[in-house]
Parts: sequence; structure tokens; C-alpha cells
Amino acid sequence: MDFQNVIDRNQTNSMKWDFYPDVYGAGDLWPMWVADMDFQAPKPVLDAMHEVINHGVFGYHRRPKSLFDATTSWLEHRFNWSISDEQIVFTPGVVPAISHIIQTFTKKEDGIIIQPPVYFPFYALVQNNERTLLRNPLQETKNGFTMDFEDLEEKMKEAEMMILCSPHNPIGRVWTQEELTRLAELAEKHEVLVVSDEIHADIILDGKHTPLSKAAEGKNVETMTCLAPSKTFNLASLQLSYVVFENNESKKAYEKHLQQEFVGINNPLATVAAESAYRHGEEWLEQMLEYVRANVEHVKQYVESEMPEIKVVKPEGTYLIWIDMRGLNMENKELEQWLRRDAKLALSDGPNFGKEGGGFVRMNAACPRETIEEGLRRLKEAYDRLNT
Ligand SMILES: Cc1ncc(COP(=O)(O)O)c(C=O)c1O
Repeated sequence: MDFQNVIDRNQTNSMKWDFYPDVYGAGDLWPMWVADMDFQAPKPVLDAMHEVINHGVFGYHRRPKSLFDATTSWLEHRFNWSISDEQIVFTPGVVPAISHIIQTFTKKEDGIIIQPPVYFPFYALVQNNERTLLRNPLQETKNGFTMDFEDLEEKMKEAEMMILCSPHNPIGRVWTQEELTRLAELAEKHEVLVVSDEIHADIILDGKHTPLSKAAEGKNVETMTCLAPSKTFNLASLQLSYVVFENNESKKAYEKHLQQEFVGINNPLATVAAESAYRHGEEWLEQMLEYVRANVEHVKQYVESEMPEIKVVKPEGTYLIWIDMRGLNMENKELEQWLRRDAKLALSDGPNFGKEGGGFVRMNAACPRETIEEGLRRLKEAYDRLNT
């Protein structure tokens, strides 16, 4: 696969390329915001989808056993994590899956912990369901971002549930086995259910992903893990994800809730895409990771040598780069306007992820180098104008 190849996504109803003017209020920006890739999905995935299209019959569909098998084999192979088909419930996206978990296992006003700055729909998940948001901000240390375990323990005293982001979007941390074990110990002590959003689990640039559920083995703590091939293989619009349960009673309760809400994921294109990605997509994934690692390295080196007041937090996981612009000494609004009006860039504004994100932006590096270069060129020109 040639990841250098620029594929024109304009006028394809792409959220990132066609709909940014609705969000940013300008039509001449360079889009590096939404967390999808500008790459084509792996060839075996496209072939499998073509076969379904050529067949041409799109009647009611059910997920076959082979999809469950491909999924469990992938988890075993990539994470040395053995689960059975019976632990899996397919869902039409991780965000709706978490919402339904909240509805099934908590009640109004229950406390739910999140770790800001964090993927912004987590706030809406808690608030739209009228639960109480408990914030356990990440700590910034000289060695990067870590969890504040003392504060986490305090918050756990008031919480029923925690939503963990692992790897963490937007910080890019791949939590270590030790960190996850410590978290699991606290959750055990305070009887907190931990929902682990591991949608970025396959996108590891440096380090090793440990499923929370594995780190929690042997502890009396309940975990529910949300996963998907969507970020991994750029299939997000197909809306296929799944939850792995450790407790069969909980799984049944969740399935019952989904039935009551008439939630299903029965799309034949999603089924074959996911199955062939898990069976035949690994080589593509490894090449994509190599390409993104080089992009990330390039952004870090270029930004820090050419724009010394800007710092790049190198991600261990995800293809998203958290960039520290606090050195420019701008208020949040001023920074946003400078990025839109002067740099002509559509980046994700840090405060969207919580107030701790003030002064930061998130840049998407899952694109051809040429796309990255154009973004950096715009940033550098605007930066140079600041100092003249
Ligand atoms: C941490 C995290 N969770 C969930 C999602 C979206 O999941 P879905 O599209 O399956 O609802 C994203 C997308 O960026 C994400 O970063």
C-alpha cells in the first residue's frame, strides 16, 4: 500500500474535508482535525466489500460466527488476550456502546469518572445521561502526562463507574501494565465499574498495549472493554464496534437493554469489512504504523526546530499529536482565531477536550506526508508573521 498517495476526499461527504466550514466558519482551511485517516482501507477489505456489492442483495443480515472467530483470533494474536465468542456484543460504534453501558449499569446522578483532557464525547455521555461528572485530570510531569492516582482514589469514593481512554486520546499515552494494575486495584477497593475505551488499541507507535481486563485479572473488579476495527483500518463510517464483557450476567443485561432500544448492527458491508480486516489486514496495519511513526517524528523535529515556542507531545499511541502552544502566550480564543484566520488550519482545539487542554491543539498525522507538509507550511508562515 502506498501511503504517500494523496487521495482527494473533497466532495465525498467527508466530515473532515467537506464539512469543516460548518464547524470552523471558514472554507479555506487545511483539515487536520477529525480522527480518521486519509488512507484507503486494506485491499482485502475493499475486495470483500466489492463482492457484497456485486452480489447486490442487501436484505436483512446477521453477524456470522466467522466474524466472532476473526475478532477473538485478532485479540489473541495482537494482545495475547484469550476471550470467547460469548463475551462479545457487537455495537454500532463505541460512543453509543458506552452510552448504553451507562444506561444499563448506572442510574441518574451516579458519579462517573473521566480523565481530562479527554475525547470530548465522554462529557456528553455522562451529562446527556444525567449522571454526575467526576473529573480526574491527568498530571503533567517532566516525564510527560501520567494519572493522578491520589485524586483518582478520592473520586472513586464517590463513583459508580469510570470511563478510561486507553490509549489516551488526545494525550497519546499508552498506559503501562503497572498503571493499569494500580487503577484496577483502586477500582476493586472502591467497587467501581471500569469501562475501558480501547478503540485505539491497535495504533501503538511506541510501547505495548495491555487490555485493562488483562491487567485486572485476578482482581475482583468488573471491566467492560470497547473495541473496534474502525480506527485501526479506517472503517469508522461503517459503524461496527464491540464490547467485551467479563461477567455473563452483565452481558445479558446489556443485550436486553440493546433489544429494548432496538439497537442492532446488521450491515453486511461492515461484517465483511471487519472480518477481512482482522483476517488479512495485519501487514497493512504494520506498514501504516511505520508511516505514521515517521510522520509524527517529522512533525516533532520540524516544529521544535523551526518554531521553538511550540512543543510536540510525542504520542505513544493513536495517530493524533497533542501540540503545546502555551509558549505563544495567547488566550484560548486568540489562539483559535490565529489558527483559523492566519494559519488557515482546521486543528482540534485543546479546550474541546476540557479546560486542561487550554493552549494545546490536536493534529491528525494519519495522512500522506504531503498533507502534513502543507499543514506545517501554513503553521510556520503564520508563526513567522507573529515575530515580525
Ligand atoms: C477514544 C475514542 N473513542 C471513541 C471514538 C469514536 O468511536 P465510534 O465512532 O465507534 O463511536 C473515538 C474517535 O475518535 C475515540 O477517539
